[in-house]
Amino acid sequence: MGYYNLKIRQGDPVGLNAAMTSSNTGKPPDINLRDWNFPAGTLRVLQLTDTHLYANPVGSLLGINTLDSFERVIRHFRDYHWPLDVLLATGDLVHDASPEGYRNLGRILSGFRVPVFCLPGNHDAPPVMREHLRNTGVYTDTVIDHGPWRFVMLDSVIPGEEGGRLAPDQLKQLEEALASTDRHTLVCMHHQPVDVGSLWIDTMAIENPGPLFEIIDRHSNVRGILWGHVHQTFEAKHGDIRLMASPSTCVQFAPRTDDFQVDEEPPGFRLLALLPDGSIRSEVVRTQEMPHGLELASSGY
Ligand SMILES: [Fe+2]
Repeated sequence: MGYYNLKIRQGDPVGLNAAMTSSNTGKPPDINLRDWNFPAGTLRVLQLTDTHLYANPVGSLLGINTLDSFERVIRHFRDYHWPLDVLLATGDLVHDASPEGYRNLGRILSGFRVPVFCLPGNHDAPPVMREHLRNTGVYTDTVIDHGPWRFVMLDSVIPGEEGGRLAPDQLKQLEEALASTDRHTLVCMHHQPVDVGSLWIDTMAIENPGPLFEIIDRHSNVRGILWGHVHQTFEAKHGDIRLMASPSTCVQFAPRTDDFQVDEEPPGFRLLALLPDGSIRSEVVRTQEMPHGLELASSGY
C-alpha cells in the first residue's frame, strides 16, 4: 500500500530564536490528509481544544454558545469519516470549571469510543477536571503510550493566572518520560512554549520555556509539540521538531495582533497522522459556517 511521502514545507524564519523557523500563515503545510493512505501502524489523532463549555448548556463566550459550536465541530469531523485512534483535548475545556461541564464533556468525548487524553488550561480547575473526567473513562494521566508513540500531557496551569508555567514536577515527569523510552513522543500542553506573534496573548505564554527546551534537546525522541490557548493556527519548527497550535472549537483570536481581536475564522480542529517512522502529518480543518452571535467588537474575554 503506497502513500504520499510529501515533504513538509519550511516556513519563513522570523527569528523566534536561532533554532526556529515559523510560518504562522494560518495555512498548515499538509493538506487533505483524508485522501492519504498511511502505512500500517500510523496513529490517526484528533485534537480538540479550548471548548470553553459551561455547566449551563446555553452558556456563551463572546456571543457564541460554546456547546452548540463544539457539537457543530464534532459533526463536521464526523463528516470526514476519518478513522480515529486517539483524541487529544488540550485545555480550557470548561470555562466555568464546573463538575457539570466536565461530566458533559466526558460524555461527549467518550462517545468517540477511542482513548481520550486530556490536560487542563487556565480556565480549568485541574482537580475538578480529573475527578469528573476520570469517571467517564477519559485519561488525565501525564504519560500514555499508544502504538509506537508516547504522549506526554503536561499541566502548565498556574492557579488563578492566565499565563502558564511548567512546575518542577512537570519538568521532572517530562525528563523521566523521555529518558525511559525510545518511542516517538508528542509533547502536549495548554500554553504556548514559543511566541506566536500576537503581543497580548504572548504575555500569557509558558513563562519558563528554557528548561522545557533544554530537556527536549537533551533527548532525541520528541517529534512534535502541540498546544491550544491561542485560538488560532500556528506552525513552526524547533530544529526538526514540529510546533503546532490549533483553532478553538468556539471563538477564534486574530493572528499577529498587538491587542485582543476576535477573528472571523470559523471554529475548527486539527488532524494529525503520527507515522511509525516518527514523522508527523497534520492538517487544520474548520467548519463551513460561523456560529451565530459572535461579538466581533469585544475587547477581551
Ligand atoms: Fe481558551
